[in-house]
Amino acid sequence: MSSDRYAVIGNPVAHSLSPIIHRAFARQSGDSLTYSVIETPLDGFASGAAEFFDAGGRGLNVTVPFKSLAYEWVEFRDEYSHEARAVNTIRPTKEGFKGFNTDGLGLMRDLERLGWSPTDARVLILGAGGAARGIVGPLLRGSAAAVTIANRTWRKARELADEFEGVDWTGLDKIEGLWDIVINATSAGIDDEGAIVTRDTLRNALCYDLYYRSDGNTPFVTWAQAVASATSDGLGMLVEQAAEAFRIWRGYEPDTVSVLRQLRRHV
Ligand code: ATR
Repeated sequence: MSSDRYAVIGNPVAHSLSPIIHRAFARQSGDSLTYSVIETPLDGFASGAAEFFDAGGRGLNVTVPFKSLAYEWVEFRDEYSHEARAVNTIRPTKEGFKGFNTDGLGLMRDLERLGWSPTDARVLILGAGGAARGIVGPLLRGSAAAVTIANRTWRKARELADEFEGVDWTGLDKIEGLWDIVINATSAGIDDEGAIVTRDTLRNALCYDLYYRSDGNTPFVTWAQAVASATSDGLGMLVEQAAEAFRIWRGYEPDTVSVLRQLRRHV
């Protein structure tokens, strides 16, 4: 019998860690599967995805810049992808293609792993783009005491906050108050810019960066370290969101801790 085929589609996608993670999950149970990388042109998402499934593909991960397009492309959507308006996991079903977004759940599981419960916590989200959109609902359902969105462009913070009941917003340069958990969901860290908020904002808070670096020291983590009560980059979230995609496709949850450990050594 031939192996079940999975892939991640994106552009650029060559450096994606998804193949390493999913192959490691499969090894745990001896599952026979292949996981490849599909780099499709910026106007080629629909044809790339269709081609993959026509050839018998069993599941597709979607990464930048196609998550919104994937949301439009699928025929059914789970609650998380509805909120995020983005799909990162696709599964073919008898009724049609179903889209999921496992990023929010991935964050929640990584916070749990770290022992950083959002229950009753005052949570500050930095950024109001796609990455931020995907985590607001899960944090609210995690019973955070308060969720506030702070963004450089105030309008976008207000618009995102307005989509959820009980979420506040502010400007990145106008943040006041004390926070239990601060999550960096801006893309600033990509350009080595960690100092996006004052250190006073981060004082004694648990500071989580949705981005990751091999050694864990993203610019935001490095900036926060001097004052935060603890810091973490987002490598654990990456593994957890992959594990949830794997469960959606294969029906069981792989072990994530061993894969995270292996990845820290690898990346
Ligand atoms: P993503 O899907 O990664 O969230 P995005 O939708 O382009 O990407 O959103 C990027 C986010 O990072 C936005 O909140 C953006 O702020 P603006 O809405 O004001 O553009 C934020 N961002 C990017 N670079 C930033 C910087 N140097 N300082 C502060 N915020 C920044």
